[in-house]
Amino acid sequence: MKEKVIIFDTTLRDGEQAPGATMNLEEKLLIAKTLEKMGVDVIEAGFPAASNGDFEAVNQIAKTIKNSVICGLARAKKSDIERTAEAIKPAAKGRIHTFLATSAIHMQYKLKMDESQILSAISDSVALARNLCDQVDWSPEDATRSKHDFLFKAIETAIKSGANTINIPDTVGYTTPDEYFALIKAIKNNVVNIDKAVISTHCHNDLGLAVANSLAAMQAGARQIECTINGIGERAGNAALEEIVMAIKTRGDFYRMSTDIDTTMITRISKLVSSITGFAVQYNKAIVGANAFAHESGIHQDGMLKNRETYEIMTPSSIGLDKTSLVLGKLSGRAAFKDKLQQIGYDLSDEKLSEAFQKFKDLADKKKEILDEDIISLVDDSLTNQQAHYQLVSLDIKCGTFDAAAINLKIKIDNEIVETNFASKDGPVDAIFNAIKKLIPHEAILDLYQVNAVTAGTDAQATTTVRLKRNNRIFSANGSSTDVLVASALAYINCLNKLKNN
Ligand code: KIV
Ligand code: ZN
Repeated sequence: MKEKVIIFDTTLRDGEQAPGATMNLEEKLLIAKTLEKMGVDVIEAGFPAASNGDFEAVNQIAKTIKNSVICGLARAKKSDIERTAEAIKPAAKGRIHTFLATSAIHMQYKLKMDESQILSAISDSVALARNLCDQVDWSPEDATRSKHDFLFKAIETAIKSGANTINIPDTVGYTTPDEYFALIKAIKNNVVNIDKAVISTHCHNDLGLAVANSLAAMQAGARQIECTINGIGERAGNAALEEIVMAIKTRGDFYRMSTDIDTTMITRISKLVSSITGFAVQYNKAIVGANAFAHESGIHQDGMLKNRETYEIMTPSSIGLDKTSLVLGKLSGRAAFKDKLQQIGYDLSDEKLSEAFQKFKDLADKKKEILDEDIISLVDDSLTNQQAHYQLVSLDIKCGTFDAAAINLKIKIDNEIVETNFASKDGPVDAIFNAIKKLIPHEAILDLYQVNAVTAGTDAQATTTVRLKRNNRIFSANGSSTDVLVASALAYINCLNKLKNN
């Protein structure tokens, strides 16, 4: 019998703290629904006291999600904890995650509190949280750099005050697998009431050890792992959910543990998070990188043809990466399109279905073969690019080897169509972006422009990402089209829509 480890996903909280990963309400809801569908036990939906937008997102997710526990993060402050309790109130199963640093460096410089002040703040904050919610997760921030004796006392206090999960964050990604294993064992051996709580891990990836550390902690007795899709998060990110889950599944013989995750949804959610945040997944990333299942060398290919297991420790289908199927063509009807969407995992409202179907028809006019990836890209576009104050009407371009690139651009702003011409010696993208700036004046600065092909072939759709920075906040948006320049204009305009809505 394998024992279950709880998967706690913090893509919408720690993941969103990554610079540029800001998501809007619709995007967060879409990710939360997909996390629920894939069997994530706990979804940390945000930090309700941080802003009204964060509160609203956690509250909406709490109203919508039925199967996963919905958790909100709160500092050890009365107002934070009460706001979080309010945000998660509609949840079928809610949780408050509250934290306070226990390392000497954080206590002295950041909090300016001594040990006894920290202990009394822990009992007050945890007791308040437990009064408002049955599930309380408590974290000693920077636990891995905390003095052990004090850390044990702090954990004991939190459990006495009502915490039923104790999360041990490696906040700065400093620990190593052996050291973290020993710390979890020491907590089990020295905290007298530890049997009343589940021990949890929360590892950052500054030294590239987040997944290894989380698995080592699990071997020492931790039974909850906090992680994010594609490993996004503060600085170098968090432990990647897909790596943790597939390590537990593939090496079940060694770990003797299991999760409730439907691993066939991994590819889908990885693409969704990448498309919403605009963070491309590195080609050689474990599990979800484009090359993770690509066998290039002759020796490997020969082995694979004789027996796949010579070089393949898990199958592409186990993560939902089936051979891209040729799906639909120009003549496919709405019912077939809807059926295909359901197979890929989308359940759209009638309005969104009509919008996506129209985009599909437009694409089918330009591209002979429409693959799953094309459908995912166009549907994600419709779902995430909502409230469009600005819409691309048309783009005409003349460019080539010698002359400056010249464009004519028409944009609909609310209900009025505006138009401009622009020429640039730096090429058509520069001309397009300058023309957009002329029609929609803004202070935001371009932080990133990136182009990816959705599928292979010269008729592939391009997905472009634009990241804009305004007052130290970063916003990302995508645009897809078989024309890379149209995709670039769409991404920029979508990003300005995001800025306008925030
Ligand atoms: O990294 C960290 O310490 C955190 C806590 C809030 C759990 O994200
Ligand atoms: Zn963190």
